[in-house]
Amino acid sequence: MDENILNPDDLLGNKLISEEDDDEFHHLNNPVLGLKPIVKKYLGTVTDVKEVGNKFFFTDSEARVEVTVVTDEIIRVRLAPHGVFLEEFSYAVPKQEQKVSVFSLHEDELEYRVSTSTVNCHIRKIDFFISFSDTQNHITNQDAVPMHWEENTQFGGYYVFGTKVCNTDEAFYGLGDKASDLNLRGRRFKNWNTDAYSFGWNQDPLYRSIPFYISLNEGIAHGIFFDNTFKATFDFGAEDRTKTSFWADGGELQYYYIHGPHMMDVVKSYHLLTGTHPMPPLWALGYHQCRWSYYPESKVMSVAKGFRKNQIPCDGIYLDIDYMDGYRCFTWNRKYFPDPKKMIKELAADGFKTVVIIDPGIRVDDNYSVFKEGKEKRYFCRRSDDYFMEGHVWPGRCQFPDFTNPEVRAWWGGLFDELVQLGVAGVWNDMNEPAVFGAGTFPDDVRHQYDGFRGSHRKAHNVYGMQMVRATYEGLRKLMKNKRPFTITRAGYSGLQRYASVWTGDNVASWEHLRLGNIQCQRLSMSGVPFCGTDIGGFSGEPDGELFTRWIQFGAFSPFMRAHSAGDTKEREPWSFGEPYTTINRKFIELRYRLLPYLYSTFWEHHRYGFPILRPVVLQEQDILANQARQDEFTYGDKILVCPVMEPGQTSRPVYLPKGQWYNFWTNEIADGGVEVMVPTPLETIPVFIKAGAVLPEYPVMQYVGEKEIDEVKLNVYYSNHEVNSFLFEDYGETFAYEQDIYLEKKFIVSGKDTLLTIEQTMEGLYTPRYENYHFKIIGLPFKPSKIIIDGKTVGDFVLTEEKCYEFKFSKNFKHIEILK
Ligand code: GLC
Repeated sequence: MDENILNPDDLLGNKLISEEDDDEFHHLNNPVLGLKPIVKKYLGTVTDVKEVGNKFFFTDSEARVEVTVVTDEIIRVRLAPHGVFLEEFSYAVPKQEQKVSVFSLHEDELEYRVSTSTVNCHIRKIDFFISFSDTQNHITNQDAVPMHWEENTQFGGYYVFGTKVCNTDEAFYGLGDKASDLNLRGRRFKNWNTDAYSFGWNQDPLYRSIPFYISLNEGIAHGIFFDNTFKATFDFGAEDRTKTSFWADGGELQYYYIHGPHMMDVVKSYHLLTGTHPMPPLWALGYHQCRWSYYPESKVMSVAKGFRKNQIPCDGIYLDIDYMDGYRCFTWNRKYFPDPKKMIKELAADGFKTVVIIDPGIRVDDNYSVFKEGKEKRYFCRRSDDYFMEGHVWPGRCQFPDFTNPEVRAWWGGLFDELVQLGVAGVWNDMNEPAVFGAGTFPDDVRHQYDGFRGSHRKAHNVYGMQMVRATYEGLRKLMKNKRPFTITRAGYSGLQRYASVWTGDNVASWEHLRLGNIQCQRLSMSGVPFCGTDIGGFSGEPDGELFTRWIQFGAFSPFMRAHSAGDTKEREPWSFGEPYTTINRKFIELRYRLLPYLYSTFWEHHRYGFPILRPVVLQEQDILANQARQDEFTYGDKILVCPVMEPGQTSRPVYLPKGQWYNFWTNEIADGGVEVMVPTPLETIPVFIKAGAVLPEYPVMQYVGEKEIDEVKLNVYYSNHEVNSFLFEDYGETFAYEQDIYLEKKFIVSGKDTLLTIEQTMEGLYTPRYENYHFKIIGLPFKPSKIIIDGKTVGDFVLTEEKCYEFKFSKNFKHIEILK
């Protein structure tokens, strides 16, 4: 193994030091001061290889590198500087199943090559450079410097580094909720979960750590998932435009190379590793109303009544920290809420689900049962000297459960029993970065059980929030028997999607934040966090009616739709701004409910196949260079293109339509894609386009999910002269029966010609919906139909509507429809 003493240029080139460390760096290399320079170690020449199953172990005689074939597209690389690997354990990748059958190892004079049917991993003998190529021998990813590390007792640091070549036109996406442009190129980011109240554009780090990025170079995509929970840094050609680096302040250099070639393939493969979101209860896809805080009970009830009075649909109402007794989790302030059970029952009778906040800080108070029990059982985190870790949060002096301990998670999960008995349907986990007033977070030396793999807070910090919401989700799942719990978390790490939805934290009521929220949601979606949304209207500050309405319009197409605001702001319900805003807000929230079956089906597509719900344009058309800079428009599922309005007073805006044909949702006009079009943006609408050939399922407007028994589904069929597939997923909407195949996946194939439109339907699954009634609306039919034949029966009753669409009904499940000229 080589031991290189770095010169300052190397050090900067490899970005070993952060800007804050600059002074120290100069000291360190100052011969006058006589301090020893940093000693940084690199892999040397490969001397041997061993093959064990799907793993290959390469060594330079001291360090070892493990190359694991995970799937045909995924290869994992790990480094053990002294030849001994850490035990296999990851909160992000629950089980690593090998899903590959054929792979091989080749050796020639210069290199070893591990190959699957789609990817080669090259290990260059002379210097241990690792690179990846596709079957056309196109290099997609290569080391710029061999894997390296630093064990510095003088500075007290241990770092592991991967440094890759950054190509001239390479673009980078992913990393979760970063508040920057969609393409991350030219920037450096830190992963360290942080309570970032009123964060600003380019502020970093934020609440979550998702160490996964997607690279797009010359039209070919690959992903890197650096599964290391320590504080990590990613540099996408920021300090040196020829290098992409990622490094962590501890742990193992372990990354997964995920081959594309399409960005969507990378996203799907990332889900294969880290899992997908379980199906949410259908009501959770409705509109949610939150505020810090609605209290007392009469206020909660009057807000709820306001929705029904104004006929604005709403499914979820939230209780923020003031519902508790002195902010003690799992207690109630009986002055404000004398009879929570009665209140929750009344809310439920009116169609509202109650969601309550639960924070990790447990008040130090010997008269408080949760604290007493946690203390007795030693469930709270401790410092290195064995004293309990204490910090101030809302309740005052607090201690904090160690959620990385499975026993603590089980205990925590059980604490929700009373809330579930009271009828609470969802739980909101906040402040779980973990946030501590003054100190920011826990000291580094806090100890964590880490599922038996013990570690300090340096290792556990980024997963703390995820393990908290995991404990919450798993507890609720048990307590709610077969009902799907709804959970939402502020902090998280890769894989959090298996347990919760997220919101982007404490944003601001500004147009800039609306723009930022749009990018953050798109970015979260492509980073494996599908169920995401922003605080509609902005958490702090005051939106005017226009900003709030524009945000509602964006929110109607966010996977998670919740308005929330800080306590010192004015009222913020959808009717608070008067007309014309109330009417427009209602129209968009109603649209959300009309399209619920579409969103629910898109969720299924995520859950089952790993597709994101929001899809940036570049994710769909990566071969078009200009798309790398497009970050305003996105598709919601794959059939609806949305471009929110993010400027005040805007009356029209350009929108890029991806290739193919698109119908303007508001006018039904058809337009060719592959170009930018100007679209009018009066306050009443935002640009929404539907892909030609789509079948958009629609439910009647309901004030809440379950208000009406669905006895008919409307199928909006958008004519296309190409064959296009759509689908509709249906099930009970609130149980886990879908895990036993009790669901129905209806697939529609639309295909049009000059004189004929056909719609085929196939079905999979064991669920039987209550209805068999279909209401068809055919949009854009280029001919006047003479006949409609459904499974051999002629339908006589079809009408041409004012919108120039043909509508007809059919009361039986169908297989084949022909609409003839
Ligand atoms: C944090 C949360 C915010 C919540 C507040 C009070 O700031 O991000 O959503 O309302 O705490 O609980």
